[in-house]
Amino acid sequence: MYTSKITGLGHYVPENIVTNDDLSKLMDTNDAWIRERTGIEERRHIKKGDGNSTSVMGVKAATIALERAKLAPSDIDFIVFATLSPDMYFPGGGVQVQDMMGMGTIPALDVRNQCSGFVYAISVADQFVKTGMYKNVLVIGSENHSGGLDFTTRGRSVSVIFGDGAGAAVVSRNESGTGGILSTHLHSEGKHKDQLSLQGPSTEHWVPEIIAENPQEDIPYYPYMNGQFVFKHAIVRFSEVIKEGLAANDMGVEDIDIFIPHQANLRISQFIQKKFQLPDDKVYNNMQKYGNTTAASIPIALSEAWEKGKIKEGDLVVLAAFGSGFTWGSVMIRW
Ligand code: COA
Repeated sequence: MYTSKITGLGHYVPENIVTNDDLSKLMDTNDAWIRERTGIEERRHIKKGDGNSTSVMGVKAATIALERAKLAPSDIDFIVFATLSPDMYFPGGGVQVQDMMGMGTIPALDVRNQCSGFVYAISVADQFVKTGMYKNVLVIGSENHSGGLDFTTRGRSVSVIFGDGAGAAVVSRNESGTGGILSTHLHSEGKHKDQLSLQGPSTEHWVPEIIAENPQEDIPYYPYMNGQFVFKHAIVRFSEVIKEGLAANDMGVEDIDIFIPHQANLRISQFIQKKFQLPDDKVYNNMQKYGNTTAASIPIALSEAWEKGKIKEGDLVVLAAFGSGFTWGSVMIRW
């Protein structure tokens, strides 16, 4: 049995900055409400014509991650692509990345686990590397939320939260023998599927129905979120899955060097930080600048924290996520 290690990180966000004040020109909202409830100050949105899409941003982040891992596209054995906003309903983003990066006929798998997508994707990569089946796996989380949100007042409780961007990690066989991915912990609870969801397009809200009905007030094509319900479950599940990861490795909260939560909402991160009594320098948040980028949020934050020198060799890095499904999970890494 091998162990796996993250050997390269990269991220990309579109240049177009959308502030809270910009959104208040489109809908009945304001900077104070958004900041107070979520901590978000601005986010990035793809601009029509800037060439970006979910898969294109994924390629941009992946190119940086590969350079940092000192690997060529031909060294990658497998792609795991996490998104809830693929360019096409099918096929998924993984095969598009494979094509754009010229990766021959290697396999590509799409992960549909929303805000927990990157944590699930890392876990998948880790298992394939551990068994020896693959040596280098490219893991990508990428989202184009702005392409599908309701920017009228009707959609304000959802649309102010989300932003676009991509992050990538190369998960490689750990040749050094030290550190690496220690463990991953995954969960789901499908009975809450409707609480944070987008119903269409789907086989239940399918093209003939869209064409036949085209009702003025038809909303299944926009995301729905029961914010307070999600908040309450998120803080419980985040806590549980961090404790589960620590217990599995015979570690305590004092062993955490840096905690990188899914960037859902600053209030959720602060709640967890307080609960675990972690000092500010042990928690990395950047949703103030990028909003919630769902599957991309952890790899963007991880890549940015690494760039800023906040992750050092030997550090215990804890990743945790919660999101639609509900799904949640954690990853324990000795850097
Ligand atoms: N701007 C201004 N007012 C808004 C608004 C916006 N963008 N969105 C909603 N409101 C209004 C509501 O209509 C409501 O008005 P009312 O009292 O007149 O009915 C009021 O603000 C309070 O709405 P509510 O939904 O109760 O607010 P909240 O305190 O629960 O905050 C969230 C809303 C979404 C910020 C909060 O519930 C949250 O962060 N939940 C977790 C979401 C999350 O993290 N999702 C991702 C999980 S991966």
